Amino acid sequence: MALTVLSVLPEAADLDVRILATDIDPNMVAQGHAGVYSEEALEPAPATLWRRYFDRADRGQWVAGAQLKRLTAFRELNLIGDWPMRGRFDVIFCRNVVIYFDDATQERVWSRFTPIMTPGATLYIGHSERVSGPAAAQLHTAGLTTYRLGGRP
Ligand SMILES: C[S@@+](CC[C@H](N)C(=O)[O-])C[C@H]1O[C@@H](n2cnc3c(N)ncnc32)[C@H](O)[C@@H]1O
Repeated sequence: MALTVLSVLPEAADLDVRILATDIDPNMVAQGHAGVYSEEALEPAPATLWRRYFDRADRGQWVAGAQLKRLTAFRELNLIGDWPMRGRFDVIFCRNVVIYFDDATQERVWSRFTPIMTPGATLYIGHSERVSGPAAAQLHTAGLTTYRLGGRP
């Protein structure tokens, strides 16, 4: 995600642009924070891009460089617990997580997203998921697995 942002906005780390990456699992958070990837994992991205923003590490691995790390904060978060976030988000990716929740819990998660989204913000969900419940009145389909907050496109 941070690499994609830097590919279109190379000065992003110096601007008011930040990515909050969360998971309930501390191991996933630690892995994201460490930012270590095999070359094989990076290969689908253009080499000119990842070679610019990753530093070479041991055994053919690469580690996220300073700009990637400044852009992204990794935090533990339980989607069905308390949320400490105070700001609003222009984009939320919540893919392949709510599939583990029952219908009522899924509806509650969607409804908790809308107040923390900026007007016109976009929500991306997984292919086997769909927004349901009261939030569906505010989150309008804007493509496959994509929803926009507010007026219909
Ligand atoms: C199938 S993975 C999806 C990962 C990623 N979003 C993707 O699409 O590749 C599901 C993730 O949801 C996390 N998860 C499960 N329950 C959660 C909860 N209550 N709050 C936050 N994350 C949760 C798991 O730890 C796991 O990393």
